[in-house]
Amino acid sequence: MTLSELYTEIEEYAGDILNSPKYLLTKNYCQHGSISVYDHCLSVAMLALKMANESGWKVEKESLIRGCLLHDYFLYDWHADEKWHRLHGFTHAKRAMKNAQHDFGLNKIEQNMIFSHMFPLNLTHFPRYKESILLCVADKVCGSFETIDGLKASLFSERRKNQS
Ligand SMILES: [Fe+2]
Ligand SMILES: [Fe+2]
Repeated sequence: MTLSELYTEIEEYAGDILNSPKYLLTKNYCQHGSISVYDHCLSVAMLALKMANESGWKVEKESLIRGCLLHDYFLYDWHADEKWHRLHGFTHAKRAMKNAQHDFGLNKIEQNMIFSHMFPLNLTHFPRYKESILLCVADKVCGSFETIDGLKASLFSERRKNQS
């Protein structure tokens, strides 16, 4: 499946989320490196959907896509040095779930996907569905690549500065 085929499928199931003014706010928040929360969530949804399609696992596609798109719907800049979200890694999943429940409504699969996506950091929030496991894996893969790309970009810009 090509990237544009994956995107088309995501838009079919969750165009309402992707085009909602509130969800578009996630374009303003940085996730890793220079990647916005919006782009991060879209990459995670694409990878999770690709893994689901290729593995042949029977999943609720609409839930898979919605849970992936909303898993980091915490709506604040987690890089800002503010006391109330110092424990971002441990707390943002619950906040994202509450925001998503309020703005879009969630079924049981989507709730568990969002709530448990930081597993095993949050050991008590266990992924109970195949969709939750796919999100957990896709999030870690995308997050790692985004962090490495961010590190590479800052190393290169530092080297350029030192050479000039
Ligand atoms: Fe997250
Ligand atoms: Fe994430």
